[in-house]
Amino acid sequence: MIPAGAIAASYLVAAVLFILSLGGLSNQKSARRGNFYGIVGMLLAVGATTLLITGNATGFDSLLEDDATRNAFAGAIGVGALIGGVMAARVGMTSMPELVAILHSFVGLAAVLVGISTYLAPAIPVTEGGEVVHNIEIYLDVFIGAITFTGSILAFLKLRGSVSGKPLTLPGRHFLNLLMVSACVYLSIDFVTAEGHTAVESLLWMTLIACVIGFHMVAAIGGADMPVVVSMLNSYSGWAAAAAGFMLKNDLLIVTGALVGSSGAILSYIMCRAMNRSFVSVILGGFGTDGGGGGPAITREQGEVQTFEVSETVESLKEASDIVIVPGYGMAVAQAQHSLSQVVDFLKEKGKTVRFAIHPVAGRLPGHMNVLLAEANVDYNIVLEMDEINDDLPKADLVLVIGANDIVNPDALEDPASPIAGMPVLEVWKSETVVVMKRSMGTGYAGVQNPLFFKENTRMLFGDAKVVVDQLLTGLRS
Ligand code: TAP
Repeated sequence: MIPAGAIAASYLVAAVLFILSLGGLSNQKSARRGNFYGIVGMLLAVGATTLLITGNATGFDSLLEDDATRNAFAGAIGVGALIGGVMAARVGMTSMPELVAILHSFVGLAAVLVGISTYLAPAIPVTEGGEVVHNIEIYLDVFIGAITFTGSILAFLKLRGSVSGKPLTLPGRHFLNLLMVSACVYLSIDFVTAEGHTAVESLLWMTLIACVIGFHMVAAIGGADMPVVVSMLNSYSGWAAAAAGFMLKNDLLIVTGALVGSSGAILSYIMCRAMNRSFVSVILGGFGTDGGGGGPAITREQGEVQTFEVSETVESLKEASDIVIVPGYGMAVAQAQHSLSQVVDFLKEKGKTVRFAIHPVAGRLPGHMNVLLAEANVDYNIVLEMDEINDDLPKADLVLVIGANDIVNPDALEDPASPIAGMPVLEVWKSETVVVMKRSMGTGYAGVQNPLFFKENTRMLFGDAKVVVDQLLTGLRS
């Protein structure tokens, strides 16, 4: 038998490890350590909870009454761990937002099921006079959980492209949302004040309405804003878990839920700021007409583009001494980071200054480029954030833009009518020469044309990023 104090201590240590994990993940240098803390904290939390549930802690009866329940519990943990492991091993970096979205839907569903079953058959006796507070905890847990559940499923389907990324803007949709929220508030009065467990109907009606709210809210948001929505749903799933923690009197769940809830909210805010969108405008929806995967250029007279061959780019690289590389979504799609890392090593051996410039929303998820470059063993000391390098760009001899588009679009600063006006960008056009590597003149996520491609000092090098970087490597070595 494990003393109950040891379980409480494990929870405390796990909570501290989760905080250290988040702290570590905020910086590339400490990210690996942060992940390690997170893994250990989670093992500790799951281990301690399993001991508690199975009646192996003093002062706690097993919640698993017979062999069949015990087997089902063990099976659920085993199968869940296996499915999670396989999914995590298989997922590509570009599909990560999809995986995160579907995992949030599980958190939402768990919150709903645990909330309803706690109401019907409380595992922990409710203290005298504490029934109202307990009912509020259950109601909030189920409400947030249901919104997270359906919202996350739809976000997952939109990110996969299984349903259209177009926002569904029903007439009077804000009024509809208000009506549904008002209905939930009305039902809450009956639920919270009901004697005993007699208000299950109100709880179930609210669950149904909250499911519709979650679906409708995400349906109104365009594919272009989906990563922000995933981060927002991440926050909701955290608050649902925190409410479940209060309901089940589980301190670790409260702390973990609050950490997930607040970090998700902060991340959503950072992403909105980097894209120059207001958080409220994202939530209210109606923006981003499609999946944001790029498309044909919007026709606007810009002049002629000047192209470069691989051999000309190799010559430019040989001549330049200060080189800056701007990676974007295309580098991730092409998986060009490993070849690029070899190009960088070669150039550094030749005594050149080579640095990476990372835009906060380059790619499709926060830290996307940093993760790929770390995977390819690029020294993080040469990987600089936009604010750290923008002022140095006018001094650069050559900027290589690899599969990036919106994050280097001068219109963001120069054309107030542009959909991305006001978004901070990497001002690569101020350098001596810019070589843009992409497959075509197609647009990026925001679907807008990029005047950078037509500038005097810009050269377009067309082709798949991986193929072209490999050719550059061969050219440099020969
Ligand atoms: P984008 O603006 O999407 O541009 C990527 C470019 O890569 C495309 O124009 C495409 O042009 C090119 N490309 C695609 N596949 C390629 C390949 N195999 N080889 C070479 N090039 C390829 O990407 P970005 O500059 O990284 O900007 C990110 C955008 O995503 C921003 O608008 C941002 O607001 C948005 N966004 C980001 C996030 C986060 S958190 N990162 C979240 C939501 C939205 P071709 O088709 O011509 O090759």
